[in-house]
Order: sequence, then structure tokens, then C-alpha cells
Amino acid sequence: MNSQLLDKLEAFYDLEPEIEDFGDAVLRGLSAENKTLPCKFFYDLRGSRLFDEICELDEYYVTRTEIGLLTDNTDDISKCLGTDCHLVEFGSGSSTKVRILLDAMQQSAGYTAIDISRDHLIASCAILADAYPGLPVSAVCADYSQALDFPALGASSGRPVAFFPGSSLGNFDENDAVAFLARVSAFLSKSDGGLLIGVDLKKDQATLNAAYDDAKGVTAAFNLNLLVRANTEIGANFDLSAYRHKAFYNAELGRVEMHLVSTKTQSVTIKGQSIDFAAEERIHTENSYKYSLEQFASICRDAGFTSSKVWCDANQLFSVHYLETS
Ligand code: AVJ
Repeated sequence: MNSQLLDKLEAFYDLEPEIEDFGDAVLRGLSAENKTLPCKFFYDLRGSRLFDEICELDEYYVTRTEIGLLTDNTDDISKCLGTDCHLVEFGSGSSTKVRILLDAMQQSAGYTAIDISRDHLIASCAILADAYPGLPVSAVCADYSQALDFPALGASSGRPVAFFPGSSLGNFDENDAVAFLARVSAFLSKSDGGLLIGVDLKKDQATLNAAYDDAKGVTAAFNLNLLVRANTEIGANFDLSAYRHKAFYNAELGRVEMHLVSTKTQSVTIKGQSIDFAAEERIHTENSYKYSLEQFASICRDAGFTSSKVWCDANQLFSVHYLETS
């Protein structure tokens, strides 16, 4: 099945990213003094579907605003990308937003998608290749949060423009954000490339709180899905009704935090190990950093980029930046 899909691609590079075992991660995170679970485990099939539902929510302005910005500024953006642009998307998922760019550009030299989830990556790239005949589409299975060593990207044609939409940068702590962007700029500087990136902005707390704690409870289900996974995949016995979703903007740290709160004193058994929860004890599951334009500009400078263009919506909810290496 895969080989037919692979035939549609210009190239497929499997960098065989090491995928941390879910069970190990859960035990490690819940044995710590301050309990945590890594947000990268949100996205199993059910979690990915819940995330797609989040993107459609009235309260979750992020996706809609970014798509609006890309769509409303296609002329400007195409000028930045140029006519010999090879788009390289980090964490490409279903490769849907890139279609806005591909549709806008007169011609592009190619598209390379990087994602950790191998089967979904190959399937999405094959669909894209079918939709854009003549566009060389390559896939790289890799963990973009790890060091970028991409023979695959160096060999590709055109001027590389990295594409990093969705404010995914928000999941990195500040140091990791700079380190990641510095790796991207090191890769781009060899070929005079650019970076098109979506960054969520600081705004009033009520808007942020609602975006991460929606009325329908979709974000709550998305957060609780980590415990559902633990129960089904590693035989944990979480009582799902005894944990509640909590999300709030931490103004001091400039980030939305998501937690799962134990509503009572209880224990859970995971792989023969018993883990105790005090009433109101939390598991910290995600950080989503929000930037001011000044803060983001300073991070970019630290990472070796200069910001050449910024697009914002009228309500200053979200920003899309085109950056070049300095
Ligand atoms: C995919 C990391 C950009 O932080 O807004 C959405 C994930 N979490 N609702 C975000 C998320 C809760 C999302 N990112």
C-alpha cells in the first residue's frame, strides 16, 4: 500500500526518529514531584480528531485567524516567497494550510513535508502530489524538535522557505524556541532561504481562557484523552470522572497552561506501580506561549533571523512573519 503512495513522491527520507515509549513517559511524568505529561502525546487518532474539532470552535480564534491572514495577504506573501521557492514544512500534519500558498504562487520549485508520524505523512504527501501535478513533493520522517540533519533538504531544488504555521512554536519554552529557530536559520542560511511562521499574540485573559476552555468541552476532552490513552494503551485505571480539565493564562510566564486536576484523594495503578494523587493535585499537560511582537522579534534576533514582514489581523489576535537569516 505504502509503495504505491511512495511512487507519487519525488523522494522519501526516513530519518527513523526515536519515538519515546508512551508508558515510560507516563510513569516518568507522574513519578515527578510536580506531575507532568508531555503534550506531544495528545495526538493519537482520537486526539488528532479532537484537535481538528478545536480548530473549528468559535472560541479558538487561532486557526481561523491564521488562515484569514494567509488568504488575505497572498500577494504580499507570494512576493516574499519568490518564483523559485521550495517550501519546507515543519510538522506538516495533513498539509492543508500549505495549499493556500501553493495556490497563490505562480510556480514553485517543490514542497518538502517533515513529520514524525510516518504513515500519515506519506498519505498526506501522496494526496498533495495528486492535487498538484508537476509539483515535486518530498517527505521526511523526522522529529523536527531534534537536531536538523537533513541531507534530504540540502539536495532539493529551489530556494528553501521553511513553513511553520499554527503557532506550534508556542509549545517550546523560550530557550527551546530560540534553539529550534537557530537550527532552522542555520539550515536556511546556506541557501539564502526564508521562514514563514505563525505566532499567537498576547491578548486579554478572557479571550485566551475561553480559547483553551471552550463551552462545548472539546478542549477538556482533548486534555483528558491523555488519561484515556493511558487506560487503553498501558492498562492504567484512571477514573476519568475524577479528573477535571483546567486551562488558564499565566500572565507572569506569558503562557496558557493546561492541567488535569484530581478532584479527590485517589490512587491509580500503572504497569504495577501505584501513583497517589492528593485532592486538587494537578498534572501539567501543556504550555502554549503567547508573544508580543517585540518579544518575538527579540527571539528571532537571538536565533539569527531578521524580520522582514509581519501580517496581523485587525484585532491583533495572531501574527504571520516572513523572516530572513541575518
Ligand atoms: C497546536 C500547540 C498550537 O497551543 O493552541 C489547542 C494546541 N492545546 N488547544 C495551541 C492546543 C489546546 C495548540 N498548538
